[in-house]
This record gives sequence, C-alpha cells and structure tokens, in this order.
Amino acid sequence: MTKRPFIVLGIETSCDETASAVVRRDAAGRGEILSNVVRAQLDLHAAYGGVVPEIAARAHVDLLDPAIKQAMAEADVAVSDIDGVAAAAGPGLIGGLIVGVTTGKAIALGLDRPFLAINHLEAHALSAGLTDGLRFPYLLLLVSGGHTQLLIVEGVGDYTRLGTTLDDALGEAFDKAAKLLGLGYPGGPEVERHAARGEAIVPLPRPMLGRPEPHFSLAGLKTALRHEAMARAPLDEQMIADLCASFQEAVAEMVRDRTERAMEIYEERLGPEAQKALVVAGGVAANARLRAVLGLAAAAREFHMVVPPPALCTDNAAMIAWAGAERLARGLVDDMAAAARARWPLDPDAPPALGAGVKA
Ligand code: KG4
Ligand code: ZN
Repeated sequence: MTKRPFIVLGIETSCDETASAVVRRDAAGRGEILSNVVRAQLDLHAAYGGVVPEIAARAHVDLLDPAIKQAMAEADVAVSDIDGVAAAAGPGLIGGLIVGVTTGKAIALGLDRPFLAINHLEAHALSAGLTDGLRFPYLLLLVSGGHTQLLIVEGVGDYTRLGTTLDDALGEAFDKAAKLLGLGYPGGPEVERHAARGEAIVPLPRPMLGRPEPHFSLAGLKTALRHEAMARAPLDEQMIADLCASFQEAVAEMVRDRTERAMEIYEERLGPEAQKALVVAGGVAANARLRAVLGLAAAAREFHMVVPPPALCTDNAAMIAWAGAERLARGLVDDMAAAARARWPLDPDAPPALGAGVKA
C-alpha cells in the first residue's frame, strides 16, 4: 500500500443523481471530503412515479459537466493536484453509466492520471471508512431504491454477500406502497410521514422471517397491502396512515430479523475477536423507525451501529471518489478498456438466491 496522500475526482451517474466530488485520502488512510456536488433529477421523474432511464441518461449529459466544474471549484484544488479520476461503472442504468465512464476516462486521459472504474455497491460498502473512519471488518446493510444487500466487508475488494432481495428492493417497495396509496414520489419519506399519524393495526405478512439465509422478499407484502387497501376503499386519511404504519412495521420487523441472522453468521464466520460493527446505508436508512429497531437489535448483540449522514449514505460522488482513493492507494487502477456494466455483483461467488427475478 502506498503511504502518501491521494486526491481523487469522483463521478456518479448510475441512477437519477448527477454527482461529482473531490476527496482526499491522507497517508494514514483517513478521508476528507473537499467538495460534494449532487444534482438530483427528482422533478424530471416525479410525474412518472419512478426513474425513467432515457430521461436520466439525457439529463446526465446536461448536468455532469457543470457538476464536475462546481466540484473542482469548491474543492479549491488545481487540476494538476488530481491523482486519479473515479467513475461509477456499474451496476445501474446503462445510459447514465456510459455518460459517467466516458467523461471520467476523457478527464483521466487529458490529465494523464489513472482511471478507476468503480462498482457503485463497493462505494456504498466502503463509505463508512470515509464518514466515520470505520476500520474493517464490519457488516453492511445496504437498503436503497435499487439495492437490498447484507454484506460482510473485510477489506477493499473483499466482500461476502450474505443476503439480497428475491424481488423488489426495500426502497422500491416503499415507493410502490406510496403509489398504491396515492402518495407522492419518492415514497419512503411519504410513507414514514403518514405512518407517524397511524397505528400498525392492519394485519400484514412478515415474509422470510426465520429463514436461515438472510435474504429479503417484498412482493408478498406489497400484494397483501394492495388487498388490504382495496378491502378498505375508499380510504380516508386515518386509514392511509394506519396502512402506512402497518407496512412500515412489517418491513422493519423483516429487516430486523434478517439483520439479526446476518449478525449471527458474521460472528460465526469471523470469530469472537472480530470487531462487531453494523453499518446501515442507503436512502431507506433515513427511516427513523427502521433505525430504532435496528439499533436495539444491534445493541442486544453488542454490535456498534454506524449510520453515515443521509447525504453520504444516499447516492453521491464522494463515496465514488473515496472508493477510487482506496483502490489507488493499493495500486488497483483500471485502463481505458474498462466498460460500464448494468449488472455487476459485488460478490460473484455468492450462491444465487433461489427465487424469481433475483437482483445482483
Ligand atoms: O439511496 P437512495 O437515495 O437512492 C438509490 O435508490 O440508490 O435511496 C432512495 C430510496 C427511495 O426508494 C426512497 O423511497 C427511500 O430510499 N427512502 C426511504 C426514506 N427516505 C428515502 N424509505 C423509507 N423511509 C424513508 N424515510
Ligand atoms: Zn446507490
């Protein structure tokens, strides 16, 4: 490992955030965010109730150059200070990924600096090192609109996937629940807001509870919610609040059970001496009920829970730049042949989760 500081420019275009950031990694391996620019495209997609890939790709073309310029200006570093250029190369929406990778390569070529093709999931997985200085190993629960994963993170490039979703991602399920109940997009915050005024009195299933492998499944819960909502139509405000509270509670209980199982496996595999830390990242980590339930479950097993600040656990480019710096420090650079990849599992050796429509 090279013991000198690195400054890395990061680019994130895998979904609907156009983002660029500059991060410095010092010789001791500590990170510092010099700038972190995110241009959300929410208003472009809101009317459709979800991200439209073609609209996202076109918006990245328009928004990326200004975002990079702003990130460089705010970081207040000279172009010649940049030691490497990192771009999210997958998994994600291929159009946006191509925009980011092509731009990143062009800048790297122009500056004659290494290019780093970053796995977006790896960037999420490593971000607690940047935000909280957390050392390896730790257990990661990554829950967002696109990902639902439980991973053991033992080092850069050393990830063991314990669990994934058999169907929808957790955030996606919140978004679909909100749509079903006539609430706005993104759905997670809307469901949480309504749940606060409701009671979890509607009976809903808790899929996957007690299964030995810590996978997730949201499809049955979503269908049950639809049936309960239809049976109660027309829905008044209180009923919507109760349905939201019931849905949120069912999700929280499933996540608690699955994460407890993952903590058990973590302890079995890594032994009693290993650091016990649980990182919760992704947009759904913003959910206060989920955090409370997970906090109790972690404490009961003497796991230290780390939740990076919202701006750094939702999609951002600081995490891409940081993953780039971590790789650069280890000499793990890419060349101009690196391609954008829509699917890119973090742990290719993970046994496939049995079920329909498995996501990487
Ligand atoms: O990480 P993120 O910003 O973007 C990606 O999907 O990668 O996550 C967005 C997701 C959306 O599905 C949104 O509904 C969900 O996170 N979310 C929440 C909350 N805030 C955002 N879900 C539940 N409760 C919340 N408070
Ligand atoms: Zn993400």
